[in-house]
Amino acid sequence: MWRLLYQSYRDKIELLWNRPESLFKLTLKWFFGNKCDRQTSCKVSLCRLTQQLERAKMAILRLEDGTTYTQLSDITPELAPLNIQLNSWPVGDNPEIRELLAKDALDDNQKEQVLQALDCYFQQLQQSAGYQSRDLIVLHPDIPNLDTLLSKFDKCHTHAEDEVRYIVAGEGIFGFVRPDGSQLEVTVQPEEFINVPANTEHWFYLTAARKVKAVRYFTTMTGWTPEYTGTQVRSGLAIV
Ligand SMILES: [Fe+2]
Repeated sequence: MWRLLYQSYRDKIELLWNRPESLFKLTLKWFFGNKCDRQTSCKVSLCRLTQQLERAKMAILRLEDGTTYTQLSDITPELAPLNIQLNSWPVGDNPEIRELLAKDALDDNQKEQVLQALDCYFQQLQQSAGYQSRDLIVLHPDIPNLDTLLSKFDKCHTHAEDEVRYIVAGEGIFGFVRPDGSQLEVTVQPEEFINVPANTEHWFYLTAARKVKAVRYFTTMTGWTPEYTGTQVRSGLAIV
């Protein structure tokens, strides 16, 4: 029954599920996620449904007219004029790494542990595009100067190098100005990789949870200074 329900209403269910911390998701998880005792086929089916939905989780793209897309097949054409890459990159099932990713703050050793666990992706970027270094940025509400840090990037800016990010926990909103002047925002979710090409007008801010862990990849450190363009950001397009 639940499989039929999911198949019939898949788009609507995934749209609700993809909204971070939605009441729908929290309710479903509370009833059938952590409390699943596998005593009844109904609960087992719903546990599988929640797992399926977690795997189906994808970025949310919102246009200025309110149109929202959550499927990669719909999102990709909208980003194509900007040559932005958005891909799903799994972090794997290592319980130690999963536990670190669930923490708010990480010390330097823990950051390096996470980075090394994900270095297969860095090696690919080194070989394919000459990337030189990577680090892990960890932002959460208890960082005293969080607003100051974020204020550097919530205005429209460009970089001389690509901005390459792999969100491994939490989420962040990237906004873009397209060649026709229209703007859009993408809420990038955990286990998603985004490559914003050099000289693309963009901005970045956090969702209401104000938490993100992201691997940053660099070809050089000098190219990543923000160059402000003065374009007015029509922010808040993303519903979070
Ligand atoms: Fe940027």
